[in-house]
Amino acid sequence: MEPRDTDCWNARYGNKGALPGAAAEVLAENGHLLPAHGCALDLACGLGANALLLARRGFDTYAWDSVQAAIARLQELTAGLLLHPEVRDVVRHPPEPRRFDVIVVSRFLDRSLASHLAAALRPGGLLFYQTFTRTRVDASAPGNPDFRLADGELLRLFGTLQLRVYREEGALGDLTRGLRNQAMLVAQRHD
Ligand SMILES: C[S@@+](CC[C@H](N)C(=O)[O-])C[C@H]1O[C@@H](n2cnc3c(N)ncnc32)[C@H](O)[C@@H]1O
Repeated sequence: MEPRDTDCWNARYGNKGALPGAAAEVLAENGHLLPAHGCALDLACGLGANALLLARRGFDTYAWDSVQAAIARLQELTAGLLLHPEVRDVVRHPPEPRRFDVIVVSRFLDRSLASHLAAALRPGGLLFYQTFTRTRVDASAPGNPDFRLADGELLRLFGTLQLRVYREEGALGDLTRGLRNQAMLVAQRHD
């Protein structure tokens, strides 16, 4: 990440009024697919809404982000939870092979990480991924198309995993409803 981007995220997360908010739809709507227990990762976690959901469900949960202010805020919320917020540049230091039962990534895209994410799952482990698409119905997604998915791209990036859930609605139908500007995937490592 460019230093200017880091400054921008630090300012946003350093604001005392900033709250984690709700977990991403890919996790909130598909929580019934989670295993009963295990080790989980919220990668590029921001304020850690996904990590908090996982830790409250009893997972031993790691939350990594390169921005110190985000991790500092999340560290204030770990009481009573198995939750480990850590400052970590995930592009320089991707997750280790076969370490996690569950990995969640929301609203973050670095294509070079795809093979590392698949390899970081334990056998039977689940990847929950949701991020912005190039097809969008308003200007709420990032302007830079490099940070947005092409049609069907999550399917290609994680083609080595067993597909469990995929949703990408594009600009079809009633644009005031549904999951717009983003795609979601849940996929499982089978070996
Ligand atoms: C749009 S935010 C999404 C945060 C959270 N996942 C969510 O859905 O609210 C993108 C996050 O990616 C983090 N990020 C960007 N590059 C990173 C990197 N190389 N390593 C770790 N985190 C990174 C930023 O600090 C920021 O918190």
